[in-house]
Amino acid sequence: MIRFENVSKSFGPKRVLDGFTLEVHEGDTVALLGYSGTGKSVALKHIVGLLVPDKGTVVVDDLDVPTLPRTRLYELRARIGYVFQSAALFDSLTVAENVGMGLRQRSEMTPAQIEWRVQEALDLVDLPEAADLMPSDLSGGMRKRVGVARAIALHPKYLLYDEPTTGLDPVTSAVIDDLMLRMQRHLGATSVVITHDLRTAWTVSNRIAMLYEGAIRQVGTPEEIKATSDPVVRQFIEGRANPVEPSAPAPR
Ligand SMILES: Nc1ncnc2c1ncn2[C@@H]1O[C@H](COP(=O)(O)OP(=O)(O)O)[C@@H](O)[C@H]1O
Ligand SMILES: [Mg+2]
Repeated sequence: MIRFENVSKSFGPKRVLDGFTLEVHEGDTVALLGYSGTGKSVALKHIVGLLVPDKGTVVVDDLDVPTLPRTRLYELRARIGYVFQSAALFDSLTVAENVGMGLRQRSEMTPAQIEWRVQEALDLVDLPEAADLMPSDLSGGMRKRVGVARAIALHPKYLLYDEPTTGLDPVTSAVIDDLMLRMQRHLGATSVVITHDLRTAWTVSNRIAMLYEGAIRQVGTPEEIKATSDPVVRQFIEGRANPVEPSAPAPR
């Protein structure tokens, strides 16, 4: 379980999160929607302790993330697969070396076990032959898949995807959506998917939350969100360009 409790976070004078509260239950896949620059990535980074809240807290598996000692934080991170917005591959390392990166930090695994895990992850993302390729050999979609392979190689309890389909063509996006569904089934991972791709949200999530002006504007099942009467959420899911009043009241 991941729980954001009333998190506020500012950078200088700019308040990005302001009373952000959200609970992600075991087995859930929550899509976090919101306009560009509203703090979705900032929220995600709090889950792994890359950012620390100014106020409020984030709890993962009953652990209070901001106050965890460093060694406990590293243990927690080993249970969390993070697919970064840019695939964040090391260009001088092979695909296999990139995917095995987190595993090599685990002293209990032998090289043969690591190799097996890496191949398993590459098989799962449909890149069984890619181990010896370099990142520069890969298309954008393949790079994303390698990013996913690196996250799942750890057999994580949690998977965090930051804009997994942004910048991809529709067909490649659908492949990534399908991959996320498969990861849910194969690993049973609890997931958070940041996206402004609504098709991704409808396809992979069982709950959808929208971030707006620093807080969760609405959270619900895809059906509830599709039927929303909140003008802010409606505008987002309908992709209308005309702005609503920033302080439009939430419907009761
Ligand atoms: N480390 C940082 N230092 C200063 N400002 C930051 C930092 N990280 C994010 N921001 C700012 O916080 C806001 C939200 O960013 P982000 O979470 O990346 O948005 P998005 O919803 O598109 O993922 C942006 O204005 C961004 O410039
Ligand atoms: Mg972002």
